[in-house]
Amino acid sequence: MDISNRNHLRFLGLRLNSLACKCVALVVIALVFRAVFLPTFNKNLFAFDNGPLTLNGEFRIEKTKFLEVPQIIWGLNNQKIAFARAALTARMLNRTLLMPSMSASLFYKEVDLLQPISFDKVFQFEKFNSLCKGFIQLGRYSEVSNFSDVFELQKGSGRRWTVKKDLDQLRQFSSNPYDRYEIIQVVGKNPFLWHDHWPVKDYAKVFECLVLVEEISREADKIVCKIIEIGSKEIRKVGQSQIVVDSVPYVAVHMRIEKDWMIHCKKLEQRSNISEICSSKEEILERVGNIVGLKTPAVIYLAVADTLLEDNSILTGWKEGLLPFEKKKLGVVEVYKKHPYLIQSAIDYEVCLRSDVFIGNSFSTFSSLVVLDRTQKMIKMGARNICGVEAKWPSYSYNLRGQSRGPRPWLTNMSDLNLQAISYGSNNVSCRLSS
Ligand SMILES: *[C@@H]1O[C@H](CO)[C@@H](O)[C@H](O)[C@H]1NC(C)=O
Ligand SMILES: *[C@@H]1O[C@H](CO)[C@@H](O)[C@H](O)[C@H]1NC(C)=O
Ligand SMILES: *[C@@H]1O[C@H](CO)[C@@H](O)[C@H](O)[C@H]1NC(C)=O
Ligand SMILES: *[C@@H]1O[C@H](CO)[C@@H](O)[C@H](O)[C@H]1NC(C)=O
Ligand SMILES: *[C@@H]1O[C@H](CO)[C@@H](O)[C@H](O)[C@H]1NC(C)=O
Repeated sequence: MDISNRNHLRFLGLRLNSLACKCVALVVIALVFRAVFLPTFNKNLFAFDNGPLTLNGEFRIEKTKFLEVPQIIWGLNNQKIAFARAALTARMLNRTLLMPSMSASLFYKEVDLLQPISFDKVFQFEKFNSLCKGFIQLGRYSEVSNFSDVFELQKGSGRRWTVKKDLDQLRQFSSNPYDRYEIIQVVGKNPFLWHDHWPVKDYAKVFECLVLVEEISREADKIVCKIIEIGSKEIRKVGQSQIVVDSVPYVAVHMRIEKDWMIHCKKLEQRSNISEICSSKEEILERVGNIVGLKTPAVIYLAVADTLLEDNSILTGWKEGLLPFEKKKLGVVEVYKKHPYLIQSAIDYEVCLRSDVFIGNSFSTFSSLVVLDRTQKMIKMGARNICGVEAKWPSYSYNLRGQSRGPRPWLTNMSDLNLQAISYGSNNVSCRLSS
């Protein structure tokens, strides 16, 4: 929710001397800020709380009826989308979603290695229900009174299982006689692979209710602190001694150039006949170096796969004034290493989300969700400038060419009728809002 601790610091007008001290203060202030301002902030944020659906009484969540879904798998952001899809399905069936199991590790095939992790180890359960009240509710297994009162819903699959058939099935299961069962249990594929029936706005509402548990967001605070602390030292070295810590901007680049991705994206380029999916390191460097109006010196945080941390060449070749760092150079590898894949990814997501400028790949689900989140936040705050460095939280896609050989400015189209562009990537991104 609090995009950047530094913004709070600026807001509070603090000027401390010791860097280390400052970073501790930063975290404390962030926590206080969260505690004090979040309740009111949320009220404004969640206008749908009193949305038309609850006002005219047509929509009420049946508290004693549940929906159970298969374990949620794959990358953090695939899991977020899958969770939202399960939640929106529960809403459609007038049911409470039984808190699903997520996966802490990233194994695609060996199901026994998936390491189930409970939703509430990652996101705050109570917070979810309070923020999403009247829209979607989560339940615990302890609330179920009769586990035998269950109906298995087998999702169809294959080519002939169309979006329309899927929708008809959901409609059918929201009415007699299925609505009498205490639990409807969906069996079959991971929800990420279910058909999509909801507009981007609905997904965005679900995402807003997903607040990381304190333990994880504090880890992200640590990384952000470190970026600012080390970044400002470097900036002083290059002779900008007047720079004060809390005004050091950082740019996050979600740099996908690891071998696995390169193989995947080349295949995707062939299959979809789109040539702008893969970007080489050189292309990324050039485009980031050409962002129109970006003030230098600037700290660049490289969100990269672990395999690239061994390759020091990602830190070289950047335009003068851009000071690149990754986990290893920041000395924070240990902070990550304590956690399983899913949590590491959640921390990196936060660090990218809070950056002053974000640059990602428009065919990455991770990048796409960061941009959705940033777009949503700018809209909620009624920002007038939404494109380019003048925006509050500008984003760009480096795989698409923009002005002056820079990256293309990127906003999520919140009016889109489904999540296709975000789940599977798109080269049709722009920085226009349609109302
Ligand atoms: C639980 O549900 C099953 C199936 O609907 C039903 O036969 C059984 O009587 C229920 N048990 C109780 C204690 O309600
Ligand atoms: C959900 O419940 C409300 C009232 O309880 C009912 O009017 C509405 O038709 C239900 N929706 C579905 C999809 O069953
Ligand atoms: C791929 O796209 C190019 C132009 O973008 C077009 O000329 C070509 O016919 C396309 N190939 C296929 C197989 O669709
Ligand atoms: C956003 O999506 C809607 C629905 O698909 C479309 O009508 C509109 O033109 C899009 N806007 C932009 C800016 O791409
Ligand atoms: C790109 O998006 C615009 C606006 O939504 C739409 O008019 C256009 O058809 C899209 N182009 C492609 C190739 O999908």
